Amino acid sequence: MAADDPFHHLHDEDYARPYVAGFVGAGSYVPVNGRPVVSLDGDWLLTLDLFDEGLRQKWFALDETPPSQWSHPRDYEIEAGEPTPVPSCWNLLKPEWTHFEGAGWYTRHVDWQRGPAGERVILSVGAANYAAMAFVNGRYVGGHRGGSTPFSLDVTELLQDGRNRLQIMVENRRCPTRVPMQHIDWFNYGGLYREISLLRLPATFIREARAALLPGGQEVRFSIQLSEAQDTTAQVSVPELGVALSVPVCGGLGEATVPFAGQRWSPDAPRLYDIQFACGADQVNERIGFRTIETRGTDILVNGETIRLKGVCVHEDDLALGKVSTEEDVRRRFRHVKELGGNFLRLSHYPHHEHVARVADEMGLLLWAEIPVYWAIAFDHPDTYADAENQLRELIMRDVNRASVILWGIGNENADTDARLSFMSRLAQAARRADSSRLVGAACLINRETFTIEDRLAEYLDVIGLNEYFGWYEPNFSGLDRLLANSSPTKPVIVSETGADALPGHRGAGRVLFTEDWQAEFYRQQITRLAAKPYVAGIAAWLLYDFRTERRQTGFQKGFNRKGLIAEDKTTRKLAFAVLAELFAEWGTPGLS
Ligand code: GCU
Repeated sequence: MAADDPFHHLHDEDYARPYVAGFVGAGSYVPVNGRPVVSLDGDWLLTLDLFDEGLRQKWFALDETPPSQWSHPRDYEIEAGEPTPVPSCWNLLKPEWTHFEGAGWYTRHVDWQRGPAGERVILSVGAANYAAMAFVNGRYVGGHRGGSTPFSLDVTELLQDGRNRLQIMVENRRCPTRVPMQHIDWFNYGGLYREISLLRLPATFIREARAALLPGGQEVRFSIQLSEAQDTTAQVSVPELGVALSVPVCGGLGEATVPFAGQRWSPDAPRLYDIQFACGADQVNERIGFRTIETRGTDILVNGETIRLKGVCVHEDDLALGKVSTEEDVRRRFRHVKELGGNFLRLSHYPHHEHVARVADEMGLLLWAEIPVYWAIAFDHPDTYADAENQLRELIMRDVNRASVILWGIGNENADTDARLSFMSRLAQAARRADSSRLVGAACLINRETFTIEDRLAEYLDVIGLNEYFGWYEPNFSGLDRLLANSSPTKPVIVSETGADALPGHRGAGRVLFTEDWQAEFYRQQITRLAAKPYVAGIAAWLLYDFRTERRQTGFQKGFNRKGLIAEDKTTRKLAFAVLAELFAEWGTPGLS
């Protein structure tokens, strides 16, 4: 069939390949890092596209003549799109869109004035679930896959003076080779659900600017990577520490190490310092806390002191906003964790919004951040590995300066197979290459044959995450007693999930499932056992709030996972909340003294 045949698109099932070939990843990501941006948040026009007609028929290439002047019939009209706030999840905007899994075409116009010669203009997207493709004035710019990490597209050559048309196609289909794949226990929201902006940069700009304490905590290393492999000089200043450095940059890379004379960051004293990195016409402003994180035997140490991580897991899920995570929502969840006497959150099961770690830096909380290598990933598929590693690198590039982030989680509840071991050991090595300063962990399953805390992946981890639900998915706690008696791990164990469902207001005596009483008793039975084991360095209850998931359809659940300590209204506390707070208070010293 000739390509200029108007019906060519009906017979071409390979239509996406040219666009996927233009996908970008961590290598082109430019953290905004406090630079001024032109926000593109606000009303866009959204047209849902179940069959990918937009790519098949190249909707993006259509001009904007009004229908009365069309010479040929069309199947797409920008103005027929629904006014849609960005960021948002389309699932919550119209009842008929609740379970939509397909493509959505967002369109808006941008009035622009090109800057001085050499200027770079970057389209910065906080995240789009799951894949995205961008078009400027009818031309494809590039795309991205991975539903929870930021990406950057250079639009310099395509933006013109005056009015520009910007279109972003987002597609949230679940696929066996994606990360996560098609079977998940959370809601598959779709859309442009984090902030979008345009970033003006000089021809040579700072792509990465890092500052961290070296092991031992006596020295701080500043490092800079420029967008170009140039030899020049950069400046780093920390006014409150009297630091004002000129850093030689060779081949685009520069670093300087100086004695650290400041106050360490800790959960009890979250001290942050304003730091400026400058080079030529570019400047990055950061607020960074300096701390060390390490393991010693089965202990986890912050600033050289053993700490017990007491906390909860949390999803990005909101009754009204779905996966959109406002700063107000973040501060509420952190207040709830502190009311629990907690110092720790596991950000399940994917990279959360960038402001989560920034607010945790301010409020003094420790975070386990992770990528969604969840359940039965296609461990033997090269594209799947590339996607997983890219999401990991983008997460690390974005949050590498956040003191609150102490651990990169590389997976959750994956069966211990050879393909999984190869895939995840590579991910662990990739995490260390990208950032050698933090711990690497994964939420593992127990070894059912030996009934021990054992997983071949543990060799590649600093911390063994353990998901166990004895007393909920298993009828009693004898299995937990057996597991703990059988196990003698040589690395710290964080119980990365343990919990039970409870419908608020549903009461009963004894083991009556889905009652608040049993959820509370579950924690009494669990925490007293776990807290007695020195190798249990942390506990993350599953989880803080009830959340949407289509897998859960009993009368108690009706599309929600009810293991929250608080209902999905993020207000109604269950009995277990106060019980867990008491148990945490009794468990050793509450965090760092
Ligand atoms: C698993 C899984 C969670 C899930 C939880 C549950 O451990 O990691 O994503 O929601 O169990 O069963 O509630």
